Amino acid sequence: MRRSLVVGNWKMNGTLASAELLVKGIIAGLGDNKADIAVCVPYVHLPKVSELVENTALAVGAQNVADKLSGAFTGEVSAAMLTEFNCKYALVGHSERRSYYGDTDETVAARFCQAQEQNITPVLCVGETLEQREQDETFSIIDAQLNAVINLAGIAAFGAAVIAYEPVWAIGTGKTATDEQAQEVHQYIRKYIAAKDQAIADKIQILYGGSAKPDNAKGLFAMPDIDGGLIGGASLDAESFLKIYHSI
Ligand code: 13P
Repeated sequence: MRRSLVVGNWKMNGTLASAELLVKGIIAGLGDNKADIAVCVPYVHLPKVSELVENTALAVGAQNVADKLSGAFTGEVSAAMLTEFNCKYALVGHSERRSYYGDTDETVAARFCQAQEQNITPVLCVGETLEQREQDETFSIIDAQLNAVINLAGIAAFGAAVIAYEPVWAIGTGKTATDEQAQEVHQYIRKYIAAKDQAIADKIQILYGGSAKPDNAKGLFAMPDIDGGLIGGASLDAESFLKIYHSI
């Protein structure tokens, strides 16, 4: 039986003061440790947040990680740097990185590998745009996004990774995928991996992201191949984020 996981992606929001309040609010409401939970925070909030979550069940992660080890890469943050703040996770290939900052399947795969080199669990974000869905390209887009990692790191790399299916058309739009739409793609992803390694497919956590809210999380999480969520907007409010977590 897979353990569930709920990850908050704060994106570029908040101040140090609001980050502290939010983290304290989440920690206060964690309750029993029935599922994994983490927040992926802006880099500059990592020192504070990693200190606050120490000895709690809340893990901390980054929203991206460099595709290189170190050197002259202005503006990038390496995986080794993230380990100094106890980052357990790093998002890679979020659609906002892919569409606004030029991340490609190949650079995302390199980021994925850099995270793993430092024992940080990469959360590989995949998903199609509305146009791609309408052109019936959803599965081929997902194939390409997964294959870039498989080609670089091999299928075994998914033994220490998380996948987040985030249909681009559902992110920040209030338009959630239906439980069935999400399940269809999650099942596809799991079968795709199973064809290469059944044990890894059985074990890997596949999260849904895209306008997940307290009122729709329960239905999504009840689907057999949905192991939790990657939550944007609703993770900025401790009460909403905890409601989602507790609906596991
Ligand atoms: P929303 O939950 O705000 O739609 O964002 C989802 C997301 O992009 C999480 O990474």
